[in-house]
Amino acid sequence: MKSTGSTALLDEVRRRLSPERFAHVLRVAELARAVAPAVGVDPDKAYRAGLLHDLAKELPDRELLRLAPPENEVERAHPPVLHGRAGRKLAEGLGERDPEVLAAIEGHVVGVGPDFPLGMLIYVADLAEPGRGFNRDLLPLLESGRLLEAYRRAVERKVAYLESRGIPVHPRTREVQRALEAA
Ligand SMILES: [Fe+2]
Repeated sequence: MKSTGSTALLDEVRRRLSPERFAHVLRVAELARAVAPAVGVDPDKAYRAGLLHDLAKELPDRELLRLAPPENEVERAHPPVLHGRAGRKLAEGLGERDPEVLAAIEGHVVGVGPDFPLGMLIYVADLAEPGRGFNRDLLPLLESGRLLEAYRRAVERKVAYLESRGIPVHPRTREVQRALEAA
């Protein structure tokens, strides 16, 4: 993997995304790196996972289905939910080898367990980056090291959003919710 912030990696990511999406992933990467020390995460891994997390976000459904064949009914009915697993494949193709970075990319859509700080950080940073204009309450939680609390709120908010739009909730997300109740 090229080193953090390498121009070559940035150019490669920029080339694959719309300007708006590229600006979003940069904000996620920078936010995740900035708060990483406060939540006990390696800043370099946080930056890479942020930069690479949405590599598959703008692909058409047929590409998502090819890169990440569906494994359940929700994935078959709603291919955009595959962009985490498909993004992991694309990140591997760009040379990313770190298993935590790859798992954080895969988990940023459906959620990760409460025992995985890097994955929780990317999930929260994706929702809380300043360009979103909402979820502002999550930033001070991250900055003060309260990652689990921020993550709990982020998961509940994403589920409420999906339910309000009639989008089915992924079985992995239901598992994550149960794990958070027990955490
Ligand atoms: Fe994102």
